[in-house]
Amino acid sequence: MLSKVVDLFMLWLLFYSWVFSVSATVSYDSKAIVINGSRRILLSGSIHYPRSTPEMWPDLIAKAKEGGLDVIQTYVFWNGHEPSPGNYYFEDRYDLVRFIKLVQQAGLYVHLRIGPYICAEWNFGGFPVWLKYVPGIVFRTDNEPFKAAMQNFTEKIVSMMKAEMLFETQGGPIIMSQIENEFGPVEWEIGDPGKAYTKWAAQMAVGLDTGVPWIMCKQDDAPDPVINACNGFYCENFTPNAKYKPKMWTENWSGWYTEFGGAVPTRPAEDIAFSVARFIQNGGSFVNYYMYHGGTNFGRTAGGPFIATSYDYDAPIDEYGQLREPKWGHLRDLHRAIKLCEPALVSADPTVTSLGSNQEAHVFSSKSGACAAFLANYDTKYSVNVTFGSAQYELPRWSISILPDCKTAVFNTARLGAQSSVKQMVPVNAAFSWQSYIEERPSADDQNVTVHDGLWEQIYITRDASDYLWYMTDVNIDPSEGFLKSGQDPLLTIWSAGHALHVFINGQLSGTVYGGLENPKLTFSNNVKLSPGTNKISLLSIAVGLPNVGTHFETWNAGVLGLVTLTGLNEGTRDISNQKWSYKIGLKGEALNLYTVAGSSSVEWAEGSQLSKKQPLAWYKTTFDSPGGDEPLGLDMSSMGKGQVWINGQSIGRHWPGYIARGRCDACDYAGIHTDKKCRTNCGEPSQRWYHVPRSWLKPSGNFLVVFEEWGGDPNGIALARRTTTTVCANIFEGQPTMKKRGMLISRRTNRPKAHLWCPPSQKISKINFASYGTPEGSCGNFHEGSCHAHKSYDAFQKNCIGRQSCSVTVAPEVFGGDPCPGSTKKLSVEAACS
Ligand code: GAL
Repeated sequence: MLSKVVDLFMLWLLFYSWVFSVSATVSYDSKAIVINGSRRILLSGSIHYPRSTPEMWPDLIAKAKEGGLDVIQTYVFWNGHEPSPGNYYFEDRYDLVRFIKLVQQAGLYVHLRIGPYICAEWNFGGFPVWLKYVPGIVFRTDNEPFKAAMQNFTEKIVSMMKAEMLFETQGGPIIMSQIENEFGPVEWEIGDPGKAYTKWAAQMAVGLDTGVPWIMCKQDDAPDPVINACNGFYCENFTPNAKYKPKMWTENWSGWYTEFGGAVPTRPAEDIAFSVARFIQNGGSFVNYYMYHGGTNFGRTAGGPFIATSYDYDAPIDEYGQLREPKWGHLRDLHRAIKLCEPALVSADPTVTSLGSNQEAHVFSSKSGACAAFLANYDTKYSVNVTFGSAQYELPRWSISILPDCKTAVFNTARLGAQSSVKQMVPVNAAFSWQSYIEERPSADDQNVTVHDGLWEQIYITRDASDYLWYMTDVNIDPSEGFLKSGQDPLLTIWSAGHALHVFINGQLSGTVYGGLENPKLTFSNNVKLSPGTNKISLLSIAVGLPNVGTHFETWNAGVLGLVTLTGLNEGTRDISNQKWSYKIGLKGEALNLYTVAGSSSVEWAEGSQLSKKQPLAWYKTTFDSPGGDEPLGLDMSSMGKGQVWINGQSIGRHWPGYIARGRCDACDYAGIHTDKKCRTNCGEPSQRWYHVPRSWLKPSGNFLVVFEEWGGDPNGIALARRTTTTVCANIFEGQPTMKKRGMLISRRTNRPKAHLWCPPSQKISKINFASYGTPEGSCGNFHEGSCHAHKSYDAFQKNCIGRQSCSVTVAPEVFGGDPCPGSTKKLSVEAACS
């Protein structure tokens, strides 16, 4: 008996000492988040778990760690976790605990943004649609039903994290959480109830006793002890609302989201690196990249309306999980430089001195002797030479050099040392062999049709169970109508709250209209063919993601709300808005589960010469074998219009290549204030052409691919493509510093940089497309020679690189046949093909 007690006591002791050896305290002070007593400079990146597959998570997290991150930040996606009240889902892509444990295993921390309002271009900003129909509810204000629901879900998540021992104080990786999201601007608009709600939200969160700090972003009045943080493309001038809080940046936008109909935004690596260095030199201690991996809005999870399926975001890891170079590598180099400065950064405030009209030095010099300096040139046009200490430093325009010992510039934000690469989607398959089935138009006598007087709001009826809602009514045309003789067809006008609409008259498509992100509303106005007797008007109204942002966005309507009028009849204009309308939710094909093998057998499919092409409301199916290799895959949908795609029963998202990117795509200069309108691409092309097919959704053979096409397209143009690296580049400035990983600094003078090129593991360098040592211009994929060019620029690369997977060449005049322009700063640009 006694030995049993002793055993138990020993066990308890073991457990006790284990808990206390692995758990840590997290607090903060004016300088930084303090973990286990140490102030930390923390580099963080957003990876949203449902925007990739669990099979992708370990690799994404490993790439984030290799990129120099300390923290992974994610929102919690309420509508994915609680599809109906009290009915929870935490499996597959929504396996939050698994995701957090993977981050922990990689040795990284987690910033958990519970929200539960999250914005995030996610359907309804993360709110479940049922929440809107809770009696008496008003979102995000001092409203009891809302607060009760918000508290309930927040508690659910916090208790789940506690039960899994995931907070840092329990030995887990979560070092902080977030409540609400950018409520400040809403509070400003709604006033007192907003203020009361902010207080309540903070108190409620703090009362949950997580042991780690809470953050509110864009919330200047965040009540103590909650820390208010900044979001934006730049945050150097942000100050927290109390001097005992650290300066934190929860969203540094690495690019921007794509909307259907919009151009694809990008943000240059030089500018984002500049923004981070500028924040750190001004005393910032936490930076999160929103997004570090953007991923994919699978299924119908995209918000909006009109948010695209791709949420690539021009992030350092691309939608497909591959490194986006040079952005990823440039930021990794930046992170190394910042980490070398950490001892000085956390122990001193910066002293700022002027180095010229547009140049500054920020020096962190601690009592214990640590010293780090940031030399900044804010000029967007001119690079300058500045004197700092006893040395001269060249500062390119719009850049910051980092000197972790106050002497050696190891990194400059405008000097890319990282290899860049060009990715291409290369078709892999022989043409698919398709079968087609035309969606049956519903009729008012069908099952599950409801009848109402007048026009009803779409989401009220569908509860977002489908994008689609049919509005059907009859119009009687008297044989005496004048237009029947004159041939002057009456004008049908339909006002809709959006987002897209197909109009069928007696079963024939008579037109399609759609809105856009700026204005989702639409008007249909066409002359239509009507015959004597009863005419069937069927309107297929389509929602393309529910709004995720804006004050009381929950009240925004969708669907045909009227008026609906016919003009040009004997009576003049007939208003048919208030007559009886029949409503049918969703497509027949959806109800039949045509996107599954079992469901698809319930209808007859046509093939060969009978295959429907360019027909609206068409279903297509095929099977295919998985291509070998492990490169990511995407479907080229450019021959199609609009609809949705499923693979093995899972939706890879909405396709809409028929929506062409409007606007201008001007040349992109990294220097100067960045906005979401700068550096856009794809103008005049589909906003999104390729759709990510996760490898883990495929079997070796017999994969079932189904496309529902609303507009009419040619399925024979659909192709599966692998994402592969075709071109790699290096762009190296002479005398550019390189860093040793473990902190050893290399002085500028003794350092002879090397240009490294490497192709993906299974490929080799097959050709040098371009090489110029001198003053070459352009970027990877379109370099050209400048006024100065060493005539032997190609030689060393031809000799050392062809036929090899990777190679490196020293950047020095003698390697390229001598100095082509003595006295001027030279660089080397090289581009190689991988195959
Ligand atoms: C922020 C918001 C994020 C995301 C971002 C734009 O304001 O907090 O959730 O919507 O804008 O991508």
